Amino acid sequence: MYMRNIIALLVLVIGIANSEILRLRQCNKYDAEFSKIKYNHRLVGATITELGLLSLRKCLTRCMYHTTCHSVNYMRSNERCELVGDSAEQNSTRMTTFEQRQGWNHIETNFYRKTIGEWCMANDPCPAIKQCRDICDGTHECADFFNAGSLIPFIQDASQSSTLTHYIAMKAFDGNELTFSHTSSGNLPPWIRVTFTQRVFIYFIEFVNRLPTNQNWGNRNDHTDLKTILYEGTQSTETLFGNTGVLGVRKHFTCWKYADALLAIQLTGNRLNIGEIWMYGYAKP
Ligand SMILES: *[C@@H]1O[C@H](CO)[C@@H](O)[C@H](O)[C@H]1NC(C)=O
Repeated sequence: MYMRNIIALLVLVIGIANSEILRLRQCNKYDAEFSKIKYNHRLVGATITELGLLSLRKCLTRCMYHTTCHSVNYMRSNERCELVGDSAEQNSTRMTTFEQRQGWNHIETNFYRKTIGEWCMANDPCPAIKQCRDICDGTHECADFFNAGSLIPFIQDASQSSTLTHYIAMKAFDGNELTFSHTSSGNLPPWIRVTFTQRVFIYFIEFVNRLPTNQNWGNRNDHTDLKTILYEGTQSTETLFGNTGVLGVRKHFTCWKYADALLAIQLTGNRLNIGEIWMYGYAKP
């Protein structure tokens, strides 16, 4: 593993790599992956701090240890390092922009992997309401999510592809598992969407079937794609974070993404009939 790290670092130094993994020495684990290098650009708008005379490796290490660092700007010729509290991919502040700057490179980390660690990326034995995090002694701990709460207070509205009688989309987000949303047979594929009053960070959702499930509607929500939507000006970006598979009564899905809206869309069936979609996370302050 040590050789792999050195080789990866050398490749990065000669400037052709698009991925770099740093090792936390005391844990003997690879804990942060830096990838998506953008050459001759700085990401501006969310700078945490500027550090001088640091090697690239030390710059990435500083970012790795900093709790809110998502990416760095690095200028090789005079070893300047800027820690940035956002990434181009997440743009959670909506304040970042790329600025063309000769000699500066921008390097992003996978913030999810950085925060929870390598072991927890591959295994997650924690209950859904806890967050798996790598630790040095042993493998992991199941910690509380930072600031996690129900996202119901941040719901702006809900809509769906079609509505059967009075079973409106909002019934899937009303905090009551016994009331349900129900699309009708028209306008396929069936989908349901909830939009938020502001950008939120979703840790996980709990998808609850229409209850009770031992009825002819028990498999209506099976194989439904779960996506976050981010709106940037006139553009929107959808990101898949799960699929209900065979849903049964209820299932949890890790999301760990920012969202302006959440979408469930079913490409294989002909109606959605949902008891509740609970969403947990926090709103950007
Ligand atoms: C971040 O979001 C803002 C506001 O929507 C947008 O103007 C900007 O281009 C985005 N930045 C990046 C790097 O995509």
